[in-house]
Amino acid sequence: MSKVISAHAVSVDGYITGREPGPGRGLGDGTMLFDWYFDGGTPSQVFDGFKLSEPSARVFDGLAGRVGAVVAGRNTYEDSDRFGGGSPHPGARLIVLSHRAAPELTERQTLVTTGIEDAIAAAREAADGKDVGLMGGGALTSALQAGLVDEVILHQVPVLLGGGRPFFQALPEHVRLRLVEAVPAPGVTHLHYEVVR
Ligand SMILES: NC(=O)c1ccc[n+]([C@@H]2O[C@H](COP(=O)([O-])OP(=O)(O)OC[C@H]3O[C@@H](n4cnc5c(N)ncnc54)[C@H](OP(=O)(O)O)[C@@H]3O)[C@@H](O)[C@H]2O)c1
Repeated sequence: MSKVISAHAVSVDGYITGREPGPGRGLGDGTMLFDWYFDGGTPSQVFDGFKLSEPSARVFDGLAGRVGAVVAGRNTYEDSDRFGGGSPHPGARLIVLSHRAAPELTERQTLVTTGIEDAIAAAREAADGKDVGLMGGGALTSALQAGLVDEVILHQVPVLLGGGRPFFQALPEHVRLRLVEAVPAPGVTHLHYEVVR
């Protein structure tokens, strides 16, 4: 069975955006969370235009190469300007998770309004044997509550943003994690965890 993984660039105080993210404003004042995509000499083999440090490229491409479909929460979709009608990942179909209609979706995007289980099932089908990537703290938290997450990756950037959208939201019970790999790299530390079941 394909895995469900969620990888985000996150500040040390746990934010995946800065203050005032939104359509046309992206990550708000937290754009430095993505600096490590472009501060090295190793081109990504998956994402055109990304040039990372060698250790970051190994981690980033290793994860990106596994993903065959992406489930993004509605805030991620809107704050990313609806991904220009496409997908956040060059090789993966986008499934948008929301409680409401989204009439602006294109034929390259799929909306699911019946919950995280259905969104992940639709993504698994689209992924054709590859893994499912989850984007957004809300989408991740819903999937953790439903027991559907296999791996969580923090690309931890050494900054305290002081505000923004949090990676992890309230959970009804503890979720135990096991560290798989920790990779220090210029401008970021990659922390790869497995969810313990
Ligand atoms: N730093 C990074 O690497 C990174 C990566 C991805 C995204 N981001 C940014 O992080 C922010 C993510 O925002 P976020 O954490 O607030 O949210 P999010 O997960 O992107 O979206 C949350 C929304 O998704 C919908 N949703 C979540 N669970 C659902 C469920 N079980 N059933 C139906 N709908 C459900 C709801 O939309 P409705 O209630 O409105 O329908 C909910 O308000 C965005 O600004 C994005 O640009 C950063």
